[in-house]
Amino acid sequence: MKTVLITGCSSGYGLETARHFLDQGWNVIATMRTPREDVLPRSERLRVLALDVTSADSIAAALAAAGPIDVLVNNAGIGTVGAFEATPMAQVRKLFETNTFGVMAMTQAVIPQFRAQRSGVIVNVTSSVTLTPMPLAAAYTASKQAIEGFTGSLAHELGYFGARVKLVEPGYAPTTRFAHNTDINIADLIPAAYAPFADPIFAAFAHPPLVTKESDVAEAVWRAANDLTGQLHFPAGPDAVALARAA
Ligand SMILES: NC(=O)c1ccc[n+]([C@@H]2O[C@H](COP(=O)([O-])OP(=O)(O)OC[C@H]3O[C@@H](n4cnc5c(N)ncnc54)[C@H](OP(=O)(O)O)[C@@H]3O)[C@@H](O)[C@H]2O)c1
Repeated sequence: MKTVLITGCSSGYGLETARHFLDQGWNVIATMRTPREDVLPRSERLRVLALDVTSADSIAAALAAAGPIDVLVNNAGIGTVGAFEATPMAQVRKLFETNTFGVMAMTQAVIPQFRAQRSGVIVNVTSSVTLTPMPLAAAYTASKQAIEGFTGSLAHELGYFGARVKLVEPGYAPTTRFAHNTDINIADLIPAAYAPFADPIFAAFAHPPLVTKESDVAEAVWRAANDLTGQLHFPAGPDAVALARAA
């Protein structure tokens, strides 16, 4: 029986991905900054562990407690929407600490095990913002685009040792906690000079023609984790799939 460790399982895509792998009969290590057993179904194949991907000590403790794994899903992430001019550099660094360096640190921590066992899959969850440039998302896009390049390159060197690295690129889901999981107020990031530019963009955001469901992402992560064809990119959700086709 295989074991997956998923980051950021307290809500949204990570929570649904944990449910999906449980449904498929895998052992699931669902990690959260603040562990909560009650968000997932009871199962003897489920373990909930504390993990903050921005802390080296937390990563080491979680991986030691987890024991051997077959798949790592780097899902934890935070967002920021706003004009780049008004986005504090502290917030840009925060985005990179979680979305970029957190993914890299987790990846580096599991590589020795995957190299030794000559197997293993790392699935990095980025975003459809990497598929086409989207307005008012420059810093967030940078943090995710870095992982796109990182993953493509890493796939070569880990492939040499029999381990695989994949990208899942979800579209926009208004139903996760993503938009609320921030301590920064969007209004503060739209200075008056940007308002005429930003207003129609936010109006369009409120009525997207296509959206992604949590289950779209869970299924894409599942396909990526089990893929043997060498496919690197897995757009997830109808909006992301449409963008990937147009690219
Ligand atoms: N929703 C969208 O429209 C969308 C679109 C494309 C891509 N994505 C990406 O999809 C992934 C999941 O997002 P979501 O929409 O499911 O949002 P979400 O509901 O806010 O879930 C994000 C998860 O990441 C966790 N997290 C944040 N910082 C963390 C840290 N330092 N260490 C460990 N966990 C941390 C959160 O945990 P806490 O509960 O502890 O805060 C939460 O469980 C993210 O990488 C996001 O960038 C989202």
